[in-house]
Amino acid sequence: PAPGWSITADVVVVGSGVAGLTAALRCEAAGLKTVVVTKARLDDGSTRWAQGGIAAALGEGDTPEQHLDDTLVAGAGLCDETAVRILVTEGPDAVRRLIETGAHFDESEEGGLELTREGGHHRRRIAHAGGDATGAEISRALVEAVRARGLRTIENALVLDLLTDADGRTAGVTLHVMGEGQHDGVGAVHAPAVVLATGGMGQVFSATTNPSVSTGDGVALALRAGAEVSDLEFVQFHPTVLFLGPDAEGQQPLVSEAVRGEGAHLVDAAGVRFMVGRHELAELAPRDIVAKGIMRRMQEQDAEHMFLDARHFGADMWEHRFPTILAACRAHGIDPVHEPIPIAPAAHYASGGVRTDSHGRTTVPGLYACGEVACTGVHGANRLASNSLLEGLVYAERIVTDIVAAGPASAPHARVPEPVPYPETPAHPLLEPEARFAIQRIMTLGAGVLRSARSLATAADGLQKLHADARDALDENGKTAEPGVDTWEATNLLCVARVLVAAAQLRDETRGCHWREDRADRADTTWRRHIVVRLNPDRT
Ligand code: SIN
Repeated sequence: PAPGWSITADVVVVGSGVAGLTAALRCEAAGLKTVVVTKARLDDGSTRWAQGGIAAALGEGDTPEQHLDDTLVAGAGLCDETAVRILVTEGPDAVRRLIETGAHFDESEEGGLELTREGGHHRRRIAHAGGDATGAEISRALVEAVRARGLRTIENALVLDLLTDADGRTAGVTLHVMGEGQHDGVGAVHAPAVVLATGGMGQVFSATTNPSVSTGDGVALALRAGAEVSDLEFVQFHPTVLFLGPDAEGQQPLVSEAVRGEGAHLVDAAGVRFMVGRHELAELAPRDIVAKGIMRRMQEQDAEHMFLDARHFGADMWEHRFPTILAACRAHGIDPVHEPIPIAPAAHYASGGVRTDSHGRTTVPGLYACGEVACTGVHGANRLASNSLLEGLVYAERIVTDIVAAGPASAPHARVPEPVPYPETPAHPLLEPEARFAIQRIMTLGAGVLRSARSLATAADGLQKLHADARDALDENGKTAEPGVDTWEATNLLCVARVLVAAAQLRDETRGCHWREDRADRADTTWRRHIVVRLNPDRT
């Protein structure tokens, strides 16, 4: 369908988590006409599900340098040190500005911020809110600020594609909007600057901590727009996700690293602490190492899950410090005050994404990316716990600085082309909604925590067949599925899954959260480099 409506702005921000709303608020403060578009409601993205907190060198004796060291170790040789340095040095002030915006963090009895530890951190440097509801508090504060300042927002708006002008510069986005009155249907926001802050792609796997909206829309858009995408093979699996059965699908309850940070133990069914002796930090080793430790023990014991034991916290501490997790466990019939929690790893975070420089600029002029959708280089092969909210804050602010510095030269909407409809081409035929579940099964079996050349080849074949079937339907009927949010989402999931698998096939080593069973070692001589992908728009 051709776009039925269009509006103009100086900046369109796509997404409403910590990165998107921070960018939007700073744009508005700089006097830019800003429109926020988001796929569901303003607070429906991943940010509000974040539990543990936000890492920054805010504690006494801590320094950005120490935070940098921990981040580089977790990133397994692939962090961009300059990008990390920016993150850790600008981070503390960015958190203070977030507090000024209205977010309330937990305070210690002495009155300063109460800081906890998580995997890979050698210090207590994680600020948290509501015990284990940090993301919910950040989201509340930012959404309230956006509403208070009267920013223009369009909810229930799935971004489709980037609009570019005759010079290949960003000129806006097309959207599919549902139930928003004058903006129903397919339309366009024209703007010379687009900030992608669409979050992750956890829904590419069957079990994930990500909400159902995390379908890789921003990365798929960027790929179709010819932007470079990097490090997609590095999918982080969170070690401790509540185990609800082998066939559990969709968003699963997270059991924060902070629970281990406060002293919980990982044990097997016999009560043995199997991480002790595997790493000097035991349960608080970097996340990839803990996830691998759990998977190994599960394999050795032919078990479906392991346990997290925090009975020794007692009822008071559980209720005060981890109320969200306590409630989630109890809702599933598990009482962590009296029994160990069954846990297993599940897909959690895309360390890779749309490649940007240190100002959030992608390789398409005028297109920026921040937050989980971006690959700024701070995470390398494995993100350090609680660095993601911080990255969203810091890089959103840097993007706005860049947009402002670019000045009026980029502001006029002179060369905006006619809006174009979603390009259903042989390269990107629309998929039926049910394809989502087929993709998730294929990816979980073939490209999950444990990968091998064989499993990845099977996954690649399965994805290729889904693509070929949709393309044949397009050839035969001139159309495939009825355009709608669930068809666009399935199409985006397939797009990112294919690139992810291709990158994972290419990287025939084990590094960070990319674990190849058939290539057990890290191959620093050949693989201390990034896999960068740019799609040819005509290739299928
Ligand atoms: C957690 O609370 O364990 C999640 C923190 C993160 O993913 O950074």
